Amino acid sequence: MVWHGIIHQYFPYMPLEDKQHIVTLNEGNTPLIRSLYLEKQLGGNLEVYLKHEGMNPTGSFKDRGMTMAISKAKEAGAKAVICASTGNTAAAAAAYASRAGMKSFVIIPEGNVALGKLAASLIYGAKVIQISGNFDDALCFVRDISESHPVSLVNSVNPYRIEGQKSGSFEICDALGKAPEFHALPVGNAGNISAYWKGYKAYHDAGKIEQTPMMLGFQAAGAAPIVHGHPIENPETVATAIKIGNPASWQMAEAARDDSGGMIDMVTDDEILAAYKLLASKDGVFCEPASAAGVAGVLKLEQQGFWKDKSGTLVCVLTGHGLKDPDNAIKQAGQPISVPAELDAVLEAMDL
Ligand code: F0G
Repeated sequence: MVWHGIIHQYFPYMPLEDKQHIVTLNEGNTPLIRSLYLEKQLGGNLEVYLKHEGMNPTGSFKDRGMTMAISKAKEAGAKAVICASTGNTAAAAAAYASRAGMKSFVIIPEGNVALGKLAASLIYGAKVIQISGNFDDALCFVRDISESHPVSLVNSVNPYRIEGQKSGSFEICDALGKAPEFHALPVGNAGNISAYWKGYKAYHDAGKIEQTPMMLGFQAAGAAPIVHGHPIENPETVATAIKIGNPASWQMAEAARDDSGGMIDMVTDDEILAAYKLLASKDGVFCEPASAAGVAGVLKLEQQGFWKDKSGTLVCVLTGHGLKDPDNAIKQAGQPISVPAELDAVLEAMDL
């Protein structure tokens, strides 16, 4: 079967009038990879899967929401779009806007966007404006600008982003033949946890699944406004994708947590980086640091004995590809060994 992207696949669940406006890069249909390593770590009563969203066309889950947001903008006759971003939304907006023949403007926090995201946004043709502020400042600007100028806002405050992103839940349920018992993921601007919960509820209402999962969201400890219950003025974390102090979808995320009987907790940068390295070195799955926050969270829960009496299926969403952030990969893994072009030197370096 040819996959035509998430809007075609789930059209009855997507608020678009006419298929002729669809702007797609055939996003979605990402692999659900079994993690035998995590199954062992978490105690053996669970089946654990990694939903590798880094396999989307621009390398993150943002493509699911962006195909909807840009298709709706096209339907409305928009000529330009704008977003604030820690990098992934920027790359997705730039790619889909180019494909739709629209201009894109992205406002990013200078010095806090991983190299692969910056490079992608530029080559897709966005006008990239860096501010000497953080993501929350950038989001305030784009909200203001889009209210008074002819540019459509494509951050997840645009409800069509959430509509597209809920396709992740549909794919998981279609692949498993049921909803998982547990669903773990990182939380930044809090759109994705809201979207996944909306998707599970929609499938439940449609009679496609019998139960819905417990939602387990994890923020970085230095950027954990929902956990602390107040905005964080100067968020700090190595996971720049989720370095956000005042999430736009805060209330929806809390509702997802409470309605699902789940939790939103936090993990330290050390825990995030440890999970990031384990996923690559034990499971062969390379995600970006922020994406590992969900796995760091389930490992933290293991230490608290949470999984002892639990069974069923756990899905951890890996939100973005590791290649987005080569600098952190090299910082964590170390530099290659340099030797002269001589067989002896190579063998010595191999140290068999
Ligand atoms: N993981 C990655 C790789 C992200 O890029 C983001 C958000 C998240 C997790 C958190 O998702 O915001 O829906 O809670 N990135 C946004 C951006 C903020 O601009 O790319 P969320």
